[in-house]
Amino acid sequence: MKNLKRLLSIALVLVMVIALAACGSQQTPDSTTTPSAPAEQPSQAPAEQPQTGAGKKVGVTMPTKSLQRWNEDGANVKAALEAKGYTVDLQYADNKQDVQNSQIENQITMGCDVLVIASIDGGALGGVLQQAKAANIPVIAYDRLLTNTDKCDYYATFDNYGVGKMQGEFIEQALGLDKGAKGPFNLECFGGDPGDNNAYLFNQGAMDVLQKYIDSGVLVVKSGQTKFPDQIAITNWDSKAAQDRMDNLLTAYYADDIVHVVLSPNDSLAQGIVASLKSAGYGSAGKPYPVLTGQDCDKINVGQIIRGEQSMSIFKDTRVLANQVIAMTDAILAGQQVPTNATYNNGVIDVPSYNCEIKFADKNNWKELLVDSGYYQLSDIPDAQ
Ligand code: BGC
Repeated sequence: MKNLKRLLSIALVLVMVIALAACGSQQTPDSTTTPSAPAEQPSQAPAEQPQTGAGKKVGVTMPTKSLQRWNEDGANVKAALEAKGYTVDLQYADNKQDVQNSQIENQITMGCDVLVIASIDGGALGGVLQQAKAANIPVIAYDRLLTNTDKCDYYATFDNYGVGKMQGEFIEQALGLDKGAKGPFNLECFGGDPGDNNAYLFNQGAMDVLQKYIDSGVLVVKSGQTKFPDQIAITNWDSKAAQDRMDNLLTAYYADDIVHVVLSPNDSLAQGIVASLKSAGYGSAGKPYPVLTGQDCDKINVGQIIRGEQSMSIFKDTRVLANQVIAMTDAILAGQQVPTNATYNNGVIDVPSYNCEIKFADKNNWKELLVDSGYYQLSDIPDAQ
């Protein structure tokens, strides 16, 4: 099963890279430009938008309220759909796939016209998706691909492979590896939830940049743990589990040495990693914080960037993704061509997809990217002035 998942992830990466190359939308870590064709932002959406959704109902299911991003995703999608007259049923599933499956079943029963699903374990919805198929209800996978099913009509996401690649390239530049720095630098790697297809793509993107430095000995993984998911996955993207694993690594391998760089695929893990580093005395003279990556630009993590505890976080503008989903929903229900710019193979079919653009925030640009753009208020961010 794990081998199958790994193969699947490699296939997905290949398809995605080809698709991205074809539409010329691949980015460099220096890319801080605005997405070329973002839809308008729901938070600024005027009330007088065409009511394309009048009389239509959309079922939206999100994985959990425990991470900041899904609260924002849910709120943005709901607001943007309602601004167009849709009725919305929005549910959160406390990271339990069986709970989400019942929620989707209810939405099918209540006669939803479209289902938007951000799954927990993308390969574990089988039965409920077949019910959607039998009822002829279009399904849009939201941010996470629905795998091993022939019932996933569209997929709206960010450039997932690009996320990992951007994190790898950030590390490469921060340590000067691309300029020939020889280190050696101590690296430890973390991966996301093994039931989340994105986690495979994040890992693949980062390792495609970093593996050559590990092979040449410039990056040294003292624990020897680099394999995703077997050695480095963190179930449910849980901060405490990441903290515990970092504690164990520091105790076992860094009693007389320091870690120089930690690859974290997202911000919930980076929060746990920083907590662990802090309690081990990092951030003091002679023990600087390592280069540490992240993703989502959670408010807490932007605070960590400001305080120098975390180096960067990938910014995924959930307003842009929400609008992409609304554009897809409108087009599906109007029988028009659905906007796509990529294809993901989910193990059974090629799913027509839309990759929204990513950027990264660090200590130099966080304010411009996150506050001046109106995404956050300055007062939302701990320690910001
Ligand atoms: C998302 C990330 C998020 C992670 C944990 C992934 O599927 O793409 O943005 O950090 O889930 O919620």
